[in-house]
Amino acid sequence: MKITFYGHATFEVKLGDSTLLFDPFFTDNPLHDNFDLNSLNPDWILASHGHGDHVADIEAISKSSNAKLISNYEIVNWFDEKGVKGHPINHGGKYSFDFGTVKYVNAIHTSSMPDGANGGDPGGFVIWNADQCFYFAGDTALTRDMELIPMTCPKLDVAILPIGDNFTMGYEDAAIAAEFIKCDIIIGCHYDTFGYIKIDKSKAIEAFRAKNKTLLLPNIGETIEI
Ligand code: NI
Ligand code: MN
Repeated sequence: MKITFYGHATFEVKLGDSTLLFDPFFTDNPLHDNFDLNSLNPDWILASHGHGDHVADIEAISKSSNAKLISNYEIVNWFDEKGVKGHPINHGGKYSFDFGTVKYVNAIHTSSMPDGANGGDPGGFVIWNADQCFYFAGDTALTRDMELIPMTCPKLDVAILPIGDNFTMGYEDAAIAAEFIKCDIIIGCHYDTFGYIKIDKSKAIEAFRAKNKTLLLPNIGETIEI
Protein backbone atom coordinates (compact mmCIF):
# COMPACT_ATOMS: atom_id res chain seq x y z
CA MET A 1 0.00 0.00 0.00
CA LYS A 2 1.01 3.62 -0.54
CA ILE A 3 0.31 6.04 2.29
CA THR A 4 0.50 9.80 1.70
CA PHE A 5 0.46 12.21 4.64
CA TYR A 6 -1.42 15.49 4.16
CA GLY A 7 -0.84 16.94 7.61
CA HIS A 8 -2.66 16.53 10.94
CA ALA A 9 -4.70 13.29 10.63
CA THR A 10 -5.29 13.46 6.88
CA PHE A 11 -3.95 10.49 4.93
CA GLU A 12 -4.53 9.00 1.52
CA VAL A 13 -4.02 5.24 1.30
CA LYS A 14 -3.84 3.44 -2.03
CA LEU A 15 -4.82 -0.16 -1.34
CA GLY A 16 -4.92 -2.31 -4.46
CA ASP A 17 -6.80 -0.31 -7.09
CA SER A 18 -8.71 1.78 -4.55
CA THR A 19 -7.91 5.14 -2.99
CA LEU A 20 -9.05 5.79 0.58
CA LEU A 21 -8.91 9.27 2.11
CA PHE A 22 -8.93 9.59 5.90
CA ASP A 23 -10.12 12.57 7.96
CA PRO A 24 -9.69 15.28 5.29
CA PHE A 25 -8.73 18.61 6.88
CA PHE A 26 -7.35 21.19 4.46
CA THR A 27 -9.63 24.22 4.83
CA ASP A 28 -8.58 26.24 7.90
CA ASN A 29 -5.62 23.91 8.48
CA PRO A 30 -2.71 26.26 9.29
CA LEU A 31 -0.35 23.81 7.54
CA HIS A 32 -2.11 24.30 4.19
CA ASP A 33 -2.42 27.36 2.01
CA ASN A 34 -5.05 27.10 -0.74
CA PHE A 35 -4.72 23.34 -1.20
CA ASP A 36 -6.52 22.28 -4.39
CA LEU A 37 -9.17 19.82 -3.19
CA ASN A 38 -9.81 18.84 -6.82
CA SER A 39 -6.35 17.29 -6.93
CA LEU A 40 -7.74 14.49 -4.75
CA ASN A 41 -9.83 11.76 -6.33
CA PRO A 42 -10.59 9.17 -3.65
CA ASP A 43 -13.01 6.28 -4.05
CA TRP A 44 -13.87 6.34 -0.37
CA ILE A 45 -13.58 8.85 2.47
CA LEU A 46 -13.32 7.53 6.01
CA ALA A 47 -14.07 9.71 9.04
CA SER A 48 -12.97 8.65 12.52
CA HIS A 49 -15.16 11.15 14.41
CA GLY A 50 -17.08 14.37 13.96
CA HIS A 51 -14.61 17.09 14.95
CA GLY A 52 -13.91 19.80 12.42
CA ASP A 53 -10.22 18.93 12.12
CA HIS A 54 -11.32 15.52 10.77
CA VAL A 55 -14.43 16.23 8.68
CA ALA A 56 -13.80 19.76 7.34
CA ASP A 57 -13.57 18.88 3.65
CA ILE A 58 -15.62 15.69 3.40
CA GLU A 59 -18.59 17.36 1.69
CA ALA A 60 -16.51 19.21 -0.91
CA ILE A 61 -14.25 16.26 -1.77
CA SER A 62 -17.12 13.80 -1.84
CA LYS A 63 -19.04 16.00 -4.28
CA SER A 64 -16.04 16.62 -6.57
CA SER A 65 -14.88 12.99 -6.63
CA ASN A 66 -18.12 11.02 -6.04
CA ALA A 67 -16.37 9.30 -3.14
CA LYS A 68 -18.64 7.61 -0.62
CA LEU A 69 -18.23 8.10 3.10
CA ILE A 70 -17.52 5.34 5.63
CA SER A 71 -18.06 6.40 9.22
CA ASN A 72 -20.25 5.78 12.22
CA TYR A 73 -24.04 5.87 11.87
CA GLU A 74 -24.50 9.41 13.22
CA ILE A 75 -21.80 10.95 11.02
CA VAL A 76 -23.04 9.18 7.88
CA ASN A 77 -26.58 10.41 8.62
CA TRP A 78 -25.35 13.99 9.21
CA PHE A 79 -23.58 14.00 5.85
CA ASP A 80 -26.45 12.25 4.08
CA GLU A 81 -28.57 15.35 4.76
CA LYS A 82 -25.94 17.33 2.84
CA GLY A 83 -26.17 14.97 -0.12
CA VAL A 84 -23.11 12.85 0.70
CA LYS A 85 -23.74 9.15 0.25
CA GLY A 86 -22.23 6.81 2.77
CA HIS A 87 -21.97 3.44 4.45
CA PRO A 88 -22.63 3.45 8.21
CA ILE A 89 -20.67 1.15 10.47
CA ASN A 90 -20.38 0.92 14.23
CA HIS A 91 -18.04 -0.32 16.93
CA GLY A 92 -16.96 -3.92 16.69
CA GLY A 93 -18.56 -4.34 13.28
CA LYS A 94 -16.73 -5.21 10.11
CA TYR A 95 -17.86 -5.18 6.48
CA SER A 96 -16.30 -6.41 3.26
CA PHE A 97 -16.02 -3.69 0.62
CA ASP A 98 -14.61 -4.15 -2.90
CA PHE A 99 -11.18 -2.99 -1.68
CA GLY A 100 -11.08 -5.06 1.50
CA THR A 101 -12.54 -5.44 4.96
CA VAL A 102 -13.12 -2.49 7.29
CA LYS A 103 -13.55 -2.95 11.03
CA TYR A 104 -14.61 0.02 13.19
CA VAL A 105 -12.79 -0.20 16.52
CA ASN A 106 -12.95 1.68 19.79
CA ALA A 107 -11.33 5.02 20.42
CA ILE A 108 -11.44 7.08 23.60
CA HIS A 109 -12.24 10.66 22.62
CA THR A 110 -15.37 12.77 21.91
CA SER A 111 -17.31 13.31 18.68
CA SER A 112 -19.57 16.32 18.21
CA MET A 113 -20.19 17.61 14.68
CA PRO A 114 -19.08 21.13 13.66
CA ASP A 115 -22.66 22.42 14.24
CA GLY A 116 -22.89 20.74 17.65
CA ALA A 117 -24.96 17.78 16.44
CA ASN A 118 -24.33 14.36 17.94
CA GLY A 119 -21.40 12.73 16.12
CA GLY A 120 -21.91 9.31 17.69
CA ASP A 121 -18.94 7.76 19.42
CA PRO A 122 -15.44 8.14 17.97
CA GLY A 123 -13.60 5.21 16.47
CA GLY A 124 -10.67 3.98 14.49
CA PHE A 125 -10.44 1.67 11.47
CA VAL A 126 -8.60 -1.59 10.90
CA ILE A 127 -8.53 -2.33 7.18
CA TRP A 128 -7.21 -5.34 5.36
CA ASN A 129 -7.16 -7.15 2.04
CA ALA A 130 -5.62 -10.53 1.17
CA ASP A 131 -2.10 -9.11 1.41
CA GLN A 132 -1.91 -6.30 3.95
CA CYS A 133 -3.50 -4.86 7.08
CA PHE A 134 -3.31 -1.42 8.68
CA TYR A 135 -4.85 0.51 11.57
CA PHE A 136 -5.92 4.14 11.49
CA ALA A 137 -6.52 4.94 15.15
CA GLY A 138 -8.23 8.32 14.83
CA ASP A 139 -8.07 10.60 17.85
CA THR A 140 -7.75 8.41 20.91
CA ALA A 141 -6.23 7.91 24.30
CA LEU A 142 -4.20 4.82 25.00
CA THR A 143 -6.70 2.09 25.82
CA ARG A 144 -6.51 -1.61 26.61
CA ASP A 145 -9.14 -2.10 23.91
CA MET A 146 -6.24 -1.83 21.45
CA GLU A 147 -5.09 -5.26 22.65
CA LEU A 148 -8.19 -6.71 20.99
CA ILE A 149 -6.94 -5.70 17.53
CA PRO A 150 -4.23 -8.36 17.16
CA MET A 151 -6.68 -10.90 18.65
CA THR A 152 -9.43 -10.15 16.12
CA CYS A 153 -7.73 -8.85 12.96
CA PRO A 154 -4.88 -9.97 10.68
CA LYS A 155 -1.34 -9.00 11.68
CA LEU A 156 -0.79 -5.28 11.22
CA ASP A 157 1.81 -4.14 8.68
CA VAL A 158 1.59 -0.51 9.80
CA ALA A 159 -0.46 1.71 12.10
CA ILE A 160 -1.25 5.42 12.03
CA LEU A 161 -1.37 6.71 15.61
CA PRO A 162 -1.83 10.18 17.12
CA ILE A 163 1.22 11.32 19.07
CA GLY A 164 0.62 15.03 19.75
CA ASP A 165 -0.74 14.85 23.33
CA ASN A 166 -3.28 17.27 24.86
CA PHE A 167 -6.26 16.15 22.70
CA THR A 168 -5.04 12.57 22.17
CA MET A 169 -2.40 10.28 23.56
CA GLY A 170 1.14 11.63 23.46
CA TYR A 171 4.06 9.76 21.96
CA GLU A 172 4.96 8.02 25.22
CA ASP A 173 1.51 6.41 25.39
CA ALA A 174 1.47 5.83 21.63
CA ALA A 175 4.66 3.76 21.97
CA ILE A 176 2.79 1.57 24.48
CA ALA A 177 -0.12 1.40 22.02
CA ALA A 178 2.31 0.04 19.41
CA GLU A 179 3.03 -2.80 21.84
CA PHE A 180 -0.68 -3.40 22.53
CA ILE A 181 -1.42 -3.70 18.80
CA LYS A 182 1.77 -5.73 18.10
CA CYS A 183 2.85 -3.47 15.27
CA ASP A 184 6.47 -2.49 14.60
CA ILE A 185 6.01 0.34 12.08
CA ILE A 186 4.06 3.39 13.21
CA ILE A 187 3.26 6.58 11.32
CA GLY A 188 2.69 9.47 13.72
CA CYS A 189 -0.01 12.11 13.26
CA HIS A 190 -2.04 14.78 15.06
CA TYR A 191 1.01 16.80 16.15
CA ASP A 192 2.51 20.23 15.39
CA THR A 193 -0.65 21.51 13.65
CA PHE A 194 -1.33 24.10 16.33
CA GLY A 195 0.15 25.25 19.63
CA TYR A 196 -1.32 22.71 22.07
CA ILE A 197 0.11 19.76 20.15
CA LYS A 198 3.63 20.88 19.27
CA ILE A 199 6.11 18.09 20.08
CA ASP A 200 9.84 17.36 20.09
CA LYS A 201 10.04 14.94 17.15
CA SER A 202 13.43 13.51 18.13
CA LYS A 203 12.08 12.58 21.58
CA ALA A 204 9.06 10.95 19.95
CA ILE A 205 11.24 8.85 17.64
CA GLU A 206 13.41 7.83 20.61
CA ALA A 207 10.37 6.78 22.69
CA PHE A 208 9.47 4.26 19.97
CA ARG A 209 13.08 3.18 19.36
CA ALA A 210 13.36 2.32 23.08
CA LYS A 211 10.63 -0.28 22.48
CA ASN A 212 12.22 -1.56 19.24
CA LYS A 213 9.52 0.19 17.20
CA THR A 214 9.98 2.49 14.22
CA LEU A 215 8.18 5.84 14.24
CA LEU A 216 7.89 7.42 10.81
CA LEU A 217 7.13 11.14 10.59
CA PRO A 218 6.66 11.90 6.88
CA ASN A 219 6.65 15.44 5.56
CA ILE A 220 3.39 16.84 4.25
CA GLY A 221 2.82 15.41 0.79
CA GLU A 222 5.33 12.59 1.33
CA THR A 223 4.34 9.04 0.35
CA ILE A 224 5.45 5.94 2.23
CA GLU A 225 5.22 2.54 0.55
CA ILE A 226 4.67 -0.39 2.90
NI1 NI B 1 -10.93 15.10 17.78
MN1 MN C 1 -8.49 15.98 16.22
